[in-house]
Amino acid sequence: ASKLGSRKEKTLAMIKPDATDKMGTIIQLIYDAGLTVTKAKMTALSRKEAMDFYAEHQSKSFFNNLVQFITSGPVVAMEILGDEAVTAWRRLLGPTDSSVAQNEAPDSVRANFGTDGTKNAGHGSDSLASAARELEFFFPSTGRGPSNTAKYSDCT
Ligand code: PPS
Repeated sequence: ASKLGSRKEKTLAMIKPDATDKMGTIIQLIYDAGLTVTKAKMTALSRKEAMDFYAEHQSKSFFNNLVQFITSGPVVAMEILGDEAVTAWRRLLGPTDSSVAQNEAPDSVRANFGTDGTKNAGHGSDSLASAARELEFFFPSTGRGPSNTAKYSDCT
C-alpha cells in the first residue's frame, strides 16, 4: 500500500556514455533520494536504435550530434521506482546543458559528471507517457529471460 499523498511512478533513467564510469556514484544518489532501482541494463545502442529512441528530436539541428554521442559507447538504462519518480530523477539530473548545471545546480548529476550540451551524463523521461515508451524500449515486456515481475510485484 502506498503512503497517503504519495504517487508511486516508474521512470527511465539512462546513464550516457560519458558517465558510465560514475554509475556507482549515480546509483547511490538515486537510493539516497529515496528512489529504488527496479531494473538495470548496460547496453550499446545501434545507430538505428538511437534514432528510434530519440525519434521526437529527428527534426532538430542537434539530432545527428545526439545520435553520434549516444552511440559512442555503452549506456546504463534503469527503471526507477518511487514517489513522483519522473520529476525526482530529472531534478537529480539538473539542467540539460551540463555547463548551465554547473552554475544553476552544482550538486546535480549533470553538473558533476557531464561536460556541456552534448556530453551531459544522463537522460530522464520527461513525462509518464515518455517513461512508459522508454521503459518498453529498454525492457520490452515481450523479451526473453527472467522478467523480475515476481520480485517487485508487491511495490508497484
Ligand atoms: S528540446 O529542443 O528542448 O526538446 O531539446 P532539449 O530538451 O534541450 O534536449 C533534448 C535532448 O537532446 C540533447 N541535446 C543535444 N545533444 C547533442 N548536442 C546538442 N547540441 C544537444 N542539444 C540538446 C539533450 O541532451 C537532450 O537529451 P536527453 O537524453 O533527452 O536528455
